[in-house]
Amino acid sequence: MDGSETKPSEAVAPLPKPNNGKRTVSSNDILKVAVIGGDGTGPEVAAEGVKVLEAVAKLEGFQVETKDFDYGGDRYLATGEILPEGALEELSQFDSILLGAIGHPDVAPGILERGLLLQMRFDFDQYINLRPVKLFPGVDTPIKDKGPDDIDYVVVRENTEDLYAGIGGFLKKGTPDEVATQTAIYTRKGCERCIRWAFEYTRKRNKKKRLTLVAKTNVLTYGHDLVERTFNEVAEEYPDIETDYNHVDACCMWMVKNPEYYDVIVTTNMFGDIITDLSGMIQGGMGVAAGGNINPEPGGTSMFEPMGGSAPKYTGKNVINPIATISAVAMLLEQAGHQSAADRVMKAIMTATGTKMESQAAGRMGMGTREVGDLVVELLDA
Ligand code: IPM
Ligand code: MN
Repeated sequence: MDGSETKPSEAVAPLPKPNNGKRTVSSNDILKVAVIGGDGTGPEVAAEGVKVLEAVAKLEGFQVETKDFDYGGDRYLATGEILPEGALEELSQFDSILLGAIGHPDVAPGILERGLLLQMRFDFDQYINLRPVKLFPGVDTPIKDKGPDDIDYVVVRENTEDLYAGIGGFLKKGTPDEVATQTAIYTRKGCERCIRWAFEYTRKRNKKKRLTLVAKTNVLTYGHDLVERTFNEVAEEYPDIETDYNHVDACCMWMVKNPEYYDVIVTTNMFGDIITDLSGMIQGGMGVAAGGNINPEPGGTSMFEPMGGSAPKYTGKNVINPIATISAVAMLLEQAGHQSAADRVMKAIMTATGTKMESQAAGRMGMGTREVGDLVVELLDA
């Protein structure tokens, strides 16, 4: 193997690790949010998220401070750097990060994803990727005969291991005899902290109290054996939670056939990536799907984002749907301990989708990006 390409730190998560993702200053009760609008329509949706964040803080009586960072494709093309020196350390001083979107038509795929998104996930040790899958009222799902009562589950995706660790290499690259490897890694610690968090979350969510492990133990007989053993051991500490196992392929089938079966799913990084795009469509498309990259440890820096991409062709047209970003803001508020503010935002979103917006598709909402933001702000008080 070509040793120069086997180091995980080079492939995905170059160090330095300034302070292990922990903030060193106290936040004085002011919620400090770093805003990375990013590429394409990212800044437009992020602006609506900030609009709602500021409005809800005012109503709920707490202070919020935001600071914009211009990281993304344009800056990279102009300066050659994605995250300048000291950026991670500066970001780590905020309570949370709100990310618009990453992906620039003039930058090769993978560069910004690795240099910005995955870099933050790894460096801040955001080991939970939380993706609620909820069909809001008034939103169309492609699943026939299913409504908001049937589609309401949450995927807890491990966010720091698996094939994303960036371990691999080439042998005889560029020759007919070329070999490439990409190694999935699973650690006991990495599995356990995510699985334990998922059990706690299922208990706190208090709905069906069912946690389904999604993996592929029939083929990944080492890695997913560790995952499954860890799941079964941790399960013993949660007798109030019903446990269940699906192979990932079967899970894709059941999600479409019987989405109402699911409550909380815990899964590995790569499978989580895939089943949450499927879930994104089940919940009505990328205009509404939000996710959180969470470091749940005290002082951990978490990052919240809409799941849709940067949609370059819609940039600057005031047509992109900011609902996903606004629900990312609700997740941010919940994680930051502002539960009633989070609830207020979710309620406003559901009234907006249920009674005011014509569609969740870009350009067909019956109003513009900014108007959706204004509408949600108006409804915060309803
Ligand atoms: C996601 C995205 C990322 C991932 C990409 C952009 C690296 O698809 O957040 O699901 O694969 O995790
Ligand atoms: Mn994805």
